[in-house]
Order: sequence, then structure tokens, then C-alpha cells
Amino acid sequence: MPAEKLIQSREKFRQALISWYDAHARDLPWRRQPSLYKTVVSEFMLQQTQVKTVLPYFAAWLQNYPNFDALAAASEEQVLKSWEGLGYYSRARNLHKLAQQIAPLAPAQIPTDARSWLKFPGVGPYAAAAICSISFDDPSAVVDGNVVRILSRLTADQTPYKNSTEAAKAYRPLTAELLNPKRPGDHNQAMMELGATLCSKQSPQCLLCPARAFCAGQRQGIAETLPKLAKIKFETQEIDRAWIEGPKGILLHQIPADAARMKGLHELPTLEALKLDAAHGTQIAARKRGITRYRITERIHQFKPSQLPSKLPAHHLWASPAKLETLPFSGPHRRWIAELLANSSPAPSPTNSSAGKAK
Ligand code: ADE
Repeated sequence: MPAEKLIQSREKFRQALISWYDAHARDLPWRRQPSLYKTVVSEFMLQQTQVKTVLPYFAAWLQNYPNFDALAAASEEQVLKSWEGLGYYSRARNLHKLAQQIAPLAPAQIPTDARSWLKFPGVGPYAAAAICSISFDDPSAVVDGNVVRILSRLTADQTPYKNSTEAAKAYRPLTAELLNPKRPGDHNQAMMELGATLCSKQSPQCLLCPARAFCAGQRQGIAETLPKLAKIKFETQEIDRAWIEGPKGILLHQIPADAARMKGLHELPTLEALKLDAAHGTQIAARKRGITRYRITERIHQFKPSQLPSKLPAHHLWASPAKLETLPFSGPHRRWIAELLANSSPAPSPTNSSAGKAK
């Protein structure tokens, strides 16, 4: 139904949604004996990541860092290691910093409203609203991809949005109008739950939906086509990396603190940084992966340590197999290194510099 009509019917909508949530909410570990700490950790982990991926990380995290104090006391390297494979690593660094800011506060000093939480590292409008509504009954409405999907379907909104940020902004006022003031945290969780379960992107299960009576998209048979978001334009990237085994282990690069992404994580070094020419090594693997809007092809070339420049560039280090276990990597790098180590054989003699050139 149109937004104004939905607002007029909001009491009925809230009731239908919350009754469905009370009956069908998934039994998730952060909902059992909830605490501010569990809510913060789960909301950081759940950004850009599905519940089923988060579950084992959340369990291990609570074992390793049961509260803000324990997390604040951990090293950044430990924290990154615990996050390894979950992606978007700035979340881990920000969660660590946030714990260091919260840990020294007395309970009464911890802010309880979304606006104040925006000051903490890594807390944007989504996390602030989710954390404060769930933990403190703060009446702040969450607008994430799930919420945009549900509301664009309920209102049969065919506006073409440039991206999800623009769509979220457009839905902020309606989301605030609909929020259930008696149970804001449960209302927000119910919206996210509905989006993650019944009101899915590809095949919404409208027959089971508690909001069916309010849904113009369903009535018009266009629910699965909404929201209308411009297709993401992907950028392709090609990266050549080196696999070099020496007496002290494998050569790695630690991404420095001033890099844009993945700071503190380790990776196979690039040929560019080592001033190596792919034509002088042996390509041993090629992998494709997607990160945000990048579609990346990475080729891995084997070289001998003797082919390296006499002085290693900054942030490069040798790591023994035992050391490799303790260092933080992104998920794909960890898997490639495990695969390459399993198949490892000494590098063939360097091809002489004329090889590969047309004769
Ligand atoms: N996605 C992010 N946070 C969530 C929550 N609290 N419940 C359900 N899905 C979510």
C-alpha cells in the first residue's frame, strides 16, 4: 500500500510483525541471555555477512573474548586472527577500538542513544540504531538492505535507486514512522528477520508473510523485482604475486597501517613491490575472487630467493610454517597458501632473461 496508508495502518502492521517475530524468531546465540557486549559483537559481525557464516565466529569470539575488558586487552594481531575469513577486516579493528573505549566506562557512563553511539569507531547509522534499540530500547529505526527490500515491496515503489545508500536514505522517514515504540529492538530485529527469511531477494514467500495484507508489491505481482537498484558496475583488477620459499620459510607482505584496506593482514607479496618480472618466474596458480565491486584475478608465480633484490622492501618478512599458523591472513590468502604448501616443490632454475622474449 502507499506509504501514507501504511502509516495510517501502522498499529496493525506493527502488531502483525511482532506477533510473527514472537512465534518465529530464530534461536540465535546473541538473543539468548542478551547483553550489550553480545549485541555489539553480533551487529558488527552481521554487517555484510549472513547469519550462518557468523554463527561459528560468534561462538569462538565469546570463548576468546567474553566481555569488553577481555577484547580491549587483546592485541590487534590476535583480534585480526580471530576475524580471519569473515572479511571486511576494518570491522574487527573498529570493534577492538570500541572495546578499548567502552571497557574503562562505568555502566552509567555508557551512552544509550543512537546519536551518541555514532561517535564510536565503526558505528554508522545502522549499527547505532540496531545496538541502541536492542540493548536500551532506544526508539531508533534500523534501515538496512532487508528493511529497504521489505518497504519497497510493501509500497510497490518502482523508483530506480542509484545504490543501496541512496535507497536507505529515502526509506529513513517511513522506517521511523513504522517503528514500534513499545518494542523498538524487537521491531527492528523482526524487520531484519523477515528480510532474511521470507522476504528474500529472489523468491519471497508471500503466502507465509505476516505483512501480506499490507503489501502492494505482492498484490501487483512485482514483489521480487523490487527494490529497483542500479546494477553494480564491477571493476576488473589483475594482480601478480610471488611464491618464494627460502630457508626461513615463505616470503610474505604485511599490509601496512596506512593502507586503505586489510591493514595488518598478511598476503603473498606482489611482483610489483619486489620488482620481479613474471617472465622470469613460473606461474603456479591463478585465482579469481570478488571483493565489493572488484573482480580480481590473481596469478601466483614461483621464484627462487636468489632472484630477490638484495634488500627486501619494507613490510616483507619470511614466515616458517609454524609462524604462518599464528599470523592473520584474509580467507582466500590462507587457503591459497595452504594449497600451495601442500603441493610445494622447489622452484625450477630461473629462466634466463631471454626466455619468454620472441626470438
Ligand atoms: N541482521 C543484522 N542484525 C540482525 C539481527 N539482530 N537479527 C536478525 N538479522 C540481523
